[in-house]
Amino acid sequence: MNCCDCSHGSRALVSVPYSGQSSLAGVRWIINPLYQCTNVAISLRDLTREWGSYEDVALYLNRCQVDTPDRVVTAVWTLIHERRERIEKVIDFGAGDGRFSQAGRYRRYLGYEIDSGRSDVCALAANAALVHRCAFSTRIADADVCIGNPPYVRNQDLPDGWRASAAKVIRRRTGVEVSGLANAWQYFTLLALASTKATGLVALVIPYEWVSRPSAKALRDYIADNGWDVAAYRLRDETFHRVLTTSSIAIIDKRGTGGKWQYFEETVDGDYRPLASPTGNREGVLQYSRRKSGREVFAKRGLSPGTQEVLTLTEEERMRSGLKIGVDVVPCITSLRNVHPTCATLTDEVFRRNFREAGMKCWLLRTDREPSERLRAYLRSIPASKRQTRTCTERAQWWRFTMPVPASVIVASGFRHVRPKAVRNVVSAVAVGSVSGIYGLSDRDSRQIVRAIRSADLGAGIVTHSNGLRKLEIGQLETFLARALPKHSPMLD
Ligand SMILES: C[S@@+](CC[C@H](N)C(=O)[O-])C[C@H]1O[C@@H](n2cnc3c(N)ncnc32)[C@H](O)[C@@H]1O
Repeated sequence: MNCCDCSHGSRALVSVPYSGQSSLAGVRWIINPLYQCTNVAISLRDLTREWGSYEDVALYLNRCQVDTPDRVVTAVWTLIHERRERIEKVIDFGAGDGRFSQAGRYRRYLGYEIDSGRSDVCALAANAALVHRCAFSTRIADADVCIGNPPYVRNQDLPDGWRASAAKVIRRRTGVEVSGLANAWQYFTLLALASTKATGLVALVIPYEWVSRPSAKALRDYIADNGWDVAAYRLRDETFHRVLTTSSIAIIDKRGTGGKWQYFEETVDGDYRPLASPTGNREGVLQYSRRKSGREVFAKRGLSPGTQEVLTLTEEERMRSGLKIGVDVVPCITSLRNVHPTCATLTDEVFRRNFREAGMKCWLLRTDREPSERLRAYLRSIPASKRQTRTCTERAQWWRFTMPVPASVIVASGFRHVRPKAVRNVVSAVAVGSVSGIYGLSDRDSRQIVRAIRSADLGAGIVTHSNGLRKLEIGQLETFLARALPKHSPMLD
């Protein structure tokens, strides 16, 4: 990553006072003359050259562009000042237009913002400055406070070069190995921890799920190992209109030595109500368990065939291509949204009415036998543009995935209220995409597990991640399985 390479340091920052807005190589930049340092304008393309292709970088930057509402900026500063009265140096990684510099009391503020186009409207306070460089290119380690709202970009949308380079910086500065499933905000949170002094404070607007999701475990462990105190304030879902993620203000206080974790949720009048646990219930988050290898009964996420668009078909698509049931395609379930909550069994009748006749993707190509001439013709008819996913392009035969066995029970992974839908899989459908499968159960145990899911309050043990939506992760389904069918225990690592 070009801009994460500190050899750029001397080139990017020089002590030439500059005031105002300029355009050089198509790049506008603004800097506060009081800060006595400015950018030698490096174009955004130069700054991001080593992140990946132009398209990948554009997608990443596009996903980053979310502004923090003023009331949240003020709320973050209020929480900071409850813990610190005098603040010398503030840094903000992914500073946008520098809006966090406008509230709060501090001596100096320095914002890092890669995209100079974000600072068209100058929101800087008099004692603040913006630098148009990559946040990961700094070696700051003496900030009193690191504030901000880092990008939420999902791991799938992170340019490869960005991820590799940011992971290297974090490894070097914290010793933490970031999970490959980590989204952008995790790298920024670790950078914030590395950039604040030993008694510093980190105050970031990040998804609330950080308090419980397995992909953020390395971050939580790092904080716990250091004994820092944490307060997580869950914000109301309407806070960021465009973002489908429940946000929070995360306060990590490095002065703390007791490793105390506290949870709060914002009320409609803008106050914070203490929560007994991340989910609000006494038992806390439904634990994540790992499957013991070689076990016959297990849970697994739905198959990712490479592209559902062409490797799964609706009834009409199947008929149009003349594909034969059982020979060319097998039943599959990609979602349980059409199934009534009272339905406990996926029978032929339910499959016909709610999937085949409802136009759902409900047939999966068979890849465990040589394709018939009909299937070959179908595969030949797929334009290259429809199979440009990484999974398909990396395969010897773009369409040939390993054929899974049907699950005994199919469970929706997402749900809104008390529990996800779950059905016994009498039609031997393959679980695809956002549904999970429980495998290896006898008919009797399948009935028992469906009954158990249908009477459980799983919502109480799962943190909502967007607009009231909860996701039952495979590790949590494993825990549930072990509790509901103890005879399969010990089944957990
Ligand atoms: C969610 S926005 C927040 C902007 C502003 N702080 C606010 O709260 O309104 C995140 C910002 O991070 C910037 N950004 C993304 N990656 C960056 C990087 N590696 N270095 C510096 N800034 C980055 C984006 O351009 C974007 O402006």
